[in-house]
Amino acid sequence: MTDQSKIPLPPRDKASQPSLIERAAGTFDFRTFQAPTGLPAAPAPALPPKTVPAQAETVAVTAPKVAPERARAAPPASPASPASALDGAPPVQQFRGKYYPIDRRHLREQCLIEPDGPVNGLLEEFRIVKRQLLLTAAESRAGRCAPHGERIMVCSAHPGDGKTFCAVNLALSIAAERDNEVLLVDADFAKPSVLSALGLPGGPGLMDALVDPGLMIEDYIYGTDIPGLFVLPAGNSTGADTEYVASSRTTHVLGRLTQHSPNRIVIFDSPPVLAASPASELASHVGQALMVVRADTTGEAALRDAVNILSGCEDIKLLLNCTRFSPTGRRFGSYYGYKQ
Ligand SMILES: Nc1ncnc2c1ncn2[C@@H]1O[C@H](COP(=O)(O)OP(=O)(O)OP(=O)(O)O)[C@@H](O)[C@H]1O
Ligand SMILES: [Mg+2]
Repeated sequence: MTDQSKIPLPPRDKASQPSLIERAAGTFDFRTFQAPTGLPAAPAPALPPKTVPAQAETVAVTAPKVAPERARAAPPASPASPASALDGAPPVQQFRGKYYPIDRRHLREQCLIEPDGPVNGLLEEFRIVKRQLLLTAAESRAGRCAPHGERIMVCSAHPGDGKTFCAVNLALSIAAERDNEVLLVDADFAKPSVLSALGLPGGPGLMDALVDPGLMIEDYIYGTDIPGLFVLPAGNSTGADTEYVASSRTTHVLGRLTQHSPNRIVIFDSPPVLAASPASELASHVGQALMVVRADTTGEAALRDAVNILSGCEDIKLLLNCTRFSPTGRRFGSYYGYKQ
């Protein structure tokens, strides 16, 4: 993921020297970071070309399209249709939280993908990133790889590496898919920022539903005017967030997020792995983890440490963020016909 120029680069001791990550990117096989599970190494989306299959852009996600009109419907969610219960089909799950329009100008200001906006480098880069993740999700649904591939945790070793930036952009990119809808979950309970990134008001959310068995998670999921995009706030943090995430209730609550919705992708914006413990617990509930590695700041030791802590997840992919170079000269958004 290239630097979208909004943030200053961290100071370098020797301004002329590339970082460890930058130096390694051309030669190092990042797949060796993969947790030792025996699963085939998954290609990392934004890494050197040998780890990104050439057909990445052309792979189709074959998950069946389920009730797209409902997923892309506007305002208030209505109760499940009685007809669907009568004709024998499983009842279609409904989210019952509030509905909000999302300010497109706010998205632009945050360097986030603007739905129906112009094609630019950011949009193109996330198209590449999401394709790998959607492919794994489809394979997972078909039982050909680890379960719950439709649950994707966006994580990183340290604070400020770009987790929220990547999670929100990824969700906006997946929402544009014809065959998928997306639920973006703020799972950074101590420092939630998904809602502010999208310009949405705060509210109760995931942690409240984990704490109180009497609450229904569906009641806290926001609908938006971006077709196919739903958002779940982190909710109120407790002194025992990690223990709640580790509890057996989490399996039940997360199960409800995709109940009867095989085309739904769930993206979790998580806390930094080396600074907060809930991330390691969450990892055992997801089928994919997207580890954001910030060029210039993430060191190899920290990255290895973070990957080890996430050993509960069988498929960890790396995403190099804030790069200012491409070993192959790849530069999206400059192709003729596209306007930056
Ligand atoms: N590729 C990028 N281009 C431009 N700005 C970026 C990029 N990646 C991240 N940023 C910016 O860097 C800052 C930190 O990113 P972000 O909040 O996503 O990090 P984080 O890992 O979620 O941090 P925390 O651990 O504190 O939640 C934000 O202002 C974000 O907009
Ligand atoms: Mg964040």
